[in-house]
Amino acid sequence: MKNINPTTTNAWKSLQAHFSHIKDFQLKKAFKDHPSRVDELSIEFEDFYVDFSKNLINAETKTLLNNLAIECGLKDAMNSYFNGATINATENRAVLHTALRTPEHRASNAIKQHVKDASASKAKMFTYVDSVLKGEITTYNNQKFDTVVNIGIGGSDLGPVMIYESLQAYKNDMTLHFVSNVEGDHVEEVLKKINPETTLFVIVSKSFGTQETLTNATTIRNWFTNKVNKDAVGEHFIAVSSNVDRAVNFGIQQKNIFPMFDWVGGRFSLWSTVGMSVALGIGTQNFQSLLDGAHDMDQHFKNSDFDQNIPVQLALLTIWYNNFFKAQSEAIIPYTQYLHRLPAYLQQAIMESNGKSVDRNGEPVNCETGNIVWGEPGTNSQHAFFQLIHQGTKLIPAHFIAFAKAKYHQPEHHNKLMANFFAQTEALMNGKTKAEAQSDLDTTTKTEAEKAQLLPFKVFEGNKPTTTILIDELTPASIGKLVSMYEHKIFVEGIIWNIYSYDQWGVELGKVLADQILEDLKTQNLSNHDASTVKLMSRFIKQNE
Ligand code: F6P
Repeated sequence: MKNINPTTTNAWKSLQAHFSHIKDFQLKKAFKDHPSRVDELSIEFEDFYVDFSKNLINAETKTLLNNLAIECGLKDAMNSYFNGATINATENRAVLHTALRTPEHRASNAIKQHVKDASASKAKMFTYVDSVLKGEITTYNNQKFDTVVNIGIGGSDLGPVMIYESLQAYKNDMTLHFVSNVEGDHVEEVLKKINPETTLFVIVSKSFGTQETLTNATTIRNWFTNKVNKDAVGEHFIAVSSNVDRAVNFGIQQKNIFPMFDWVGGRFSLWSTVGMSVALGIGTQNFQSLLDGAHDMDQHFKNSDFDQNIPVQLALLTIWYNNFFKAQSEAIIPYTQYLHRLPAYLQQAIMESNGKSVDRNGEPVNCETGNIVWGEPGTNSQHAFFQLIHQGTKLIPAHFIAFAKAKYHQPEHHNKLMANFFAQTEALMNGKTKAEAQSDLDTTTKTEAEKAQLLPFKVFEGNKPTTTILIDELTPASIGKLVSMYEHKIFVEGIIWNIYSYDQWGVELGKVLADQILEDLKTQNLSNHDASTVKLMSRFIKQNE
């Protein structure tokens, strides 16, 4: 891959010059002046309609941003990504989560073997899942499994739990629980709810060395052997891991270890055997549809011109706001409870990937990189943090995501939900002028003095940028497309910022120190720590004497 500092490109310089003209850009005026704005700034792809028109851009911005992508070598980088080049150079790995959803007949020669391996591991997983669901693979005493506990953290938890929650309308009668945090209280709360006799435990850890996962798995295995039978561990515990030896040492039967690949990063692994619990919860057909949807979006990303390419346009907008408007964060607002874990999932996917300050040459970057993402479903979020988006001092570009059709026939609810969805982006754009606020106040019985006092608080600046992602219906395939869309957005941003998006060295430091502190807590030797940490640790030790 080329290592191009984006700030040295002609496009960047042009964007800087363009920004100085456009910073006073008014969305309302742009719509008035350009009747074709919405058609020029929206993309339709299958059941997706993405409306970029309520963003602080015009045709020239779009051209310059596309030029930036061209100058930064995005097309070549995409070829490297899809063809399995070692683009995760600091870990010496390819980045091929796309191969997990590529049908074998569609695989290019470069990734044929990867796709073949992925298909074989999927086939093994599907056979296992179907057998469990049919009651052919049973508990140690021949009962049908009715509960699954997924034990994993980070990518081995957030992706599966987000997909499972998204697809509640497609779930079968298997009950799923997710244990991630190394918090005994959380483990106990889950154990209270389950019957060990009919529960299957899925330990998901690429490394099989993650402290949280191994601690939880060990506690749960001990609990299980006390309640049931030591010899039943092999029937009730399975593993998803690329470290077969460690999984076997833990007590997992070799045949029940489902492989993960070196060329799939944890936070992009939900499409692999990491999706085991999800597949058990929604069935293999639905899981396949999820993969097919993701593959459709891969194709769209791979084959569409930048101009008409949803992930590319989303990424370029993030760069526009992040690097030129200096926006610090972006909000992700799904108008459905089904997607309530999407922001948390995207926090790992986006921030673990692009939270980097060294470029691909090993030099400190000289521009802002990874954006902060956060959010909650609407309309709940309207009653929580929307005040700050509407009237606060920070620019927060937001993604509004909704499904035109609801899963259940509750038109009154859905119309209200969607009315709010449409209203918010319009209100954020239009705001309320002083004159409009005044005329509202004039309809009240307040005195002139009271009105004058209230007026400044009733004004909304407006001109707040939003992108609307309107999808026909929530299905496994549309969820697959949505997640794949964000994965490619992350890739594009990383290429343009000239950083390595697929390592995560930043999470190591705290892990190492936690191990050290664990020892110090045991020995009560606090001498290696600063005064603040010593006081905190002492208080902890005292409470637990
Ligand atoms: O938090 C760092 C990380 O390596 C993530 O990238 C990964 O998803 C998570 O830990 C869990 O790792 P593993 O699957 O190896 O247990």
